[in-house]
Amino acid sequence: MPDHSDYFSADQDPYLDPKTKILKNIPNLQTQEELEKFEEVIFQVNSVEATEYLKTCSTLGLEEWKRVHQICFADIFEWAGELRTIRIAKGSTVFAYPENIEGEALKIFDEINLLLGSSKLTLDKTAELFAEANVLHPFREGNGRTQRIIFNEILRRIGRSVDYGLTDQHTMIEAMIHGYNANYEPVIKLFEKITL
Ligand SMILES: Nc1ncnc2c1ncn2[C@@H]1O[C@H](COP(=O)(O)OP(=O)(O)OP(=O)(O)O)[C@@H](O)[C@H]1O
Ligand SMILES: [Mg+2]
Repeated sequence: MPDHSDYFSADQDPYLDPKTKILKNIPNLQTQEELEKFEEVIFQVNSVEATEYLKTCSTLGLEEWKRVHQICFADIFEWAGELRTIRIAKGSTVFAYPENIEGEALKIFDEINLLLGSSKLTLDKTAELFAEANVLHPFREGNGRTQRIIFNEILRRIGRSVDYGLTDQHTMIEAMIHGYNANYEPVIKLFEKITL
C-alpha cells in the first residue's frame, strides 16, 4: 500500500511553524512534547464543557462538531472550530478533501439524525458511522478527540455508555483503516467491546 505520511511536507502546510516544525499554537510552545502536555490539560477541562453543550443540541451535525472543536481547542489553536483548508493523510489513508467535507458530513449526520429520530439507531450502525465520520477528519488536528465526544453523545442517546480505556490506540487505528476500506467488522467488534 502506498504510504502518504509524508504527503504534505512542512513547507506546504500553513498550520506548521516553519522554525519549530510543530503546529503554530496560541501559547507559542516550541516543542511537540510541551504542546501535547498543554493540550492534554486544556482538553481535560474543555471536553467537559463540550459534552454538556452537546446534550442541549436537538440534532447533531458538522456545525455541532465544529462547536465542540472550538470549545476544546480555542485556547490552543487560532483555527479552533474551523474546517481545515489543506488535504491531510495518515499512513495509506487520505482523508476527505476539504471541498468534500461538508457534503459528506451532511450524508452521515442526516442518517444519524433520522435513525435517532425513529429510535432505529443500532450499536452496529453507530460503529459503522463512526468509521465513516473518521474519513472526514474535518480539522487539521484534534479529529479523534472531538469525534469521540460527538459519538459519546450519539451513544448516550441510544442508551449506551462507552469506555475507550477498554481498547488501545493500535486496535482503534486498525479498525479505522479497515473501515476506510469499507470493512466494518473490526469497528463493530470494537464498539461491542467498549460499550455497555
Ligand atoms: N491510518 C489511519 N487511517 C484512518 N484513520 C486513522 C489512521 N491513523 C489514525 N487514524 C484515526 O485518526 C485519529 C487521530 O486523528 P487526529 O490526530 O486528528 O486526532 P487527535 O484527537 O489529535 O488524536 P487521537 O484520536 O489520537 O486522540 C485516531 O483517533 C484514529 O482513529
Ligand atoms: Mg492528533
